[in-house]
Amino acid sequence: MSVILRVHDLSVAYGHIEAVKGINFHLNSGEITALVGANGAGKSTTLLAVSGLLKPARGKIEFEGEDISHLSPHQIVQRGVVQVAEGRAILTTLTVAENLQLGAYTRQDKTGIASSLEEVYHLFPRLKDRAEQFAGNLSGGEQQMLAIGRALMAKPKLLLLDEPSMGLAPLMVQEIFRTVVEINRAGLSILLVEQNVRQALKIARHGYVIETGKVVLTDSGENLLANPQVEAAYLGG
Ligand SMILES: Nc1ncnc2c1ncn2[C@@H]1O[C@H](COP(=O)(O)OP(=O)(O)O)[C@@H](O)[C@H]1O
Ligand SMILES: [Mg+2]
Repeated sequence: MSVILRVHDLSVAYGHIEAVKGINFHLNSGEITALVGANGAGKSTTLLAVSGLLKPARGKIEFEGEDISHLSPHQIVQRGVVQVAEGRAILTTLTVAENLQLGAYTRQDKTGIASSLEEVYHLFPRLKDRAEQFAGNLSGGEQQMLAIGRALMAKPKLLLLDEPSMGLAPLMVQEIFRTVVEINRAGLSILLVEQNVRQALKIARHGYVIETGKVVLTDSGENLLANPQVEAAYLGG
């Protein structure tokens, strides 16, 4: 089992306020790993550091053995680490197809881009049906699909997902999680951040529970789901 991402003693601060306080975790290649915890725990901050949008105050982020913590966000995307932003951040005045094309901005291989587009449309037939519509006219669930589809257009090796289920109706939540599993089965490593602790741990091989910027518990997803401490704090136990 090879490690694709290793985060070592990572601290990230906003001004004087340390939001992430020396966290350690890793992700095995081909697996889904979940970072779970309450609102404000430091999950998004951690992902933003991995994707280079925030610079660590301390620590190391190794992707495929290379320290990427000093690289620009663009360089990190080029290495194959692509984040689906929290809140989706799609461009509402562009069409679905245009949003997807933007996801391929780091690539030059036209035929490769075309085949990625086919894969995204296969994964999300609704996006194909709505290819020429403005993204702003999509439902919340469809916008989340578009945000994931756009990230896939960059041909990532590691996908960073920040709260993909947030604000979605239960049926749509199921569909999004099902799709995440499908993408993972196709070989992609996934770092999943969720407040929906139960759903996230169900599909994750490994999980880390984050509280106030620290890892307080780690185990397999299965064991965490059965852990009374996790149940009491996060599963309405
Ligand atoms: N841009 C920011 N400026 C200052 N503090 C922030 C900013 N973003 C997040 N924080 C604070 O950092 C902590 C961690 O936030 P965040 O990483 O967004 O948590 P999570 O994603 O787990 O909900 C929180 O206390 C939050 O208020
Ligand atoms: Mg967050």
